[in-house]
Amino acid sequence: MPETIWWKTGTVYQVYPRSFQDTNGDGVGDLPGITARLEHLAWLGVDAVWISPFYRSPMADFGYDVADYRAVDPLFGTLEDFDALIAEAHRRKLKVILDFVPNHSSIAHPWFAESRASRENPKRDWYLWRDPAPDGGPPNNWLSNFGGPAWTRDEASGQYYYHAFLAEQPDLNWRNPEVRAAMHDVLRFWLERGVDGFRVDVIWHLIKDEGFRDNPQNPDFAPHQPGINRFSQVYSCDRPEVIEVISGMRAVLREFGERVLIGEIYLPVERLVTYYGPDLEAADLPFNFQLLETPWQADAVAALVAEYEAALPEGGWPNWVLGNHDRPRIAARVGDAQARVAAMLLLTLRGTPTLYYGDEIGLGHVPIPPDRVQDPWERNEPGHGRDPVRTPMQWDDSRHAGFSAVEPWLPQTEDAERRNVDAMRDDSRSILTLYRRLLSLRRDHPALSVGGWRNVPLPPSLATEVFAYERFEGDETLRILLNFGSVERSIPLEDDAAKQETWSVLLSTRPGRAGEATGNVLHLSPDEGVVLRAHPSS
Ligand code: GLC
Repeated sequence: MPETIWWKTGTVYQVYPRSFQDTNGDGVGDLPGITARLEHLAWLGVDAVWISPFYRSPMADFGYDVADYRAVDPLFGTLEDFDALIAEAHRRKLKVILDFVPNHSSIAHPWFAESRASRENPKRDWYLWRDPAPDGGPPNNWLSNFGGPAWTRDEASGQYYYHAFLAEQPDLNWRNPEVRAAMHDVLRFWLERGVDGFRVDVIWHLIKDEGFRDNPQNPDFAPHQPGINRFSQVYSCDRPEVIEVISGMRAVLREFGERVLIGEIYLPVERLVTYYGPDLEAADLPFNFQLLETPWQADAVAALVAEYEAALPEGGWPNWVLGNHDRPRIAARVGDAQARVAAMLLLTLRGTPTLYYGDEIGLGHVPIPPDRVQDPWERNEPGHGRDPVRTPMQWDDSRHAGFSAVEPWLPQTEDAERRNVDAMRDDSRSILTLYRRLLSLRRDHPALSVGGWRNVPLPPSLATEVFAYERFEGDETLRILLNFGSVERSIPLEDDAAKQETWSVLLSTRPGRAGEATGNVLHLSPDEGVVLRAHPSS
């Protein structure tokens, strides 16, 4: 019986609210802007929109530092704007997923003000306070993900507080039941407003080693890497007790029916899959970032897909991600031609795909002049900042590409006059059209949305350049062939003479091939991907 739960069959689209649509002329996107652009998402054919944080925040980390978990920051609008957004999304049959940031609050959150007030304050234990090391320095060797130590000394009490990110983002103590209860109520607050799920920020960080042991040195550290990589994060995150905390959150979501819990987790596959929980009671979708971390080569990608498929627990639903607001854009990494192959890969693998806004128009690397740097990480550790992947969406060929009436908070691409939704919408050759066709194919073919996956072995000379696999459901078999190289390849199609199948092209990344019958050999152009459909020839 094929799966029909929305978060399994559907596609998620991530919106970074600062960069989607500005409606009040301040150069920064807002909630009414997202509402105004929902038509694009419905037209494109995605099923759910995940919105990065828009809560009240001093914006030290652009909203990932929350000062009030139940309020909309005035920069983005009001709670009424949010209610209007969700109503309009639901009217268009789009689900709404919020970004939940429970690992740390802002230093400006009233909870932290209380916690900091004195060692005796009832909320002292809501955060992680420790005495200095005997030499007066930080309590252990844990580092901040944004550079420098993860401990900041508070003069008043002489103790240090822990922050896995900026000093303005103190970590909450998830071992404290009061913290859990308060955060569960935050979830209920939004669930009651109708949200369909949460993407939970740095979920593998929530529980730290009880003894605060030093992290061991990372033998593979290389100087070009961010400082955090000096140590293996063995004790500062990915602790076994975290699974129970996630199950607790998931139970709150299930009070409201089929709502989804997506966890942000950067871990190797064998650790990642433990986040489904022993009885699949933890994360519904532990975000799978393997495609962001693997070299763009057919054999490497084929190996990781096989590894991931094999590692999934029984009943655990897969998912795939090609880009987000923290990692280089796919088109910047692999170029325009391969970005099309990547789109086909993302939307034909087994499991829920997440698209990052702007990837559908192939947004690439946008250089950020030094005087326009925004990301605090870039200031702390130059070269690692995330501004180039957060540039404003490009809607049309007007000034500022229809994003804003004024100069946006970050620059746009130099080719914005051509690279925009309006210009690409009716162009049958555009990457936008390709994304839309792929999404429609996924919707129309259960083999793609819910079917099985199997690797198709190719002769070694081809396997370094071409990744081939099948998706199947009921009577239907689709074969996907992706040329990661820039040389034409001829692929034999009859691997099983007994089956006597013939094939035709359902969709190609190269326009104009759909409907073509292939014969026994398929000619793949450079940088071409195709979806073939099998026809029994008898
Ligand atoms: C997550 C977010 C990132 C943020 C960090 C701290 O990794 O995706 O943008 O800076 O958490 O909240």
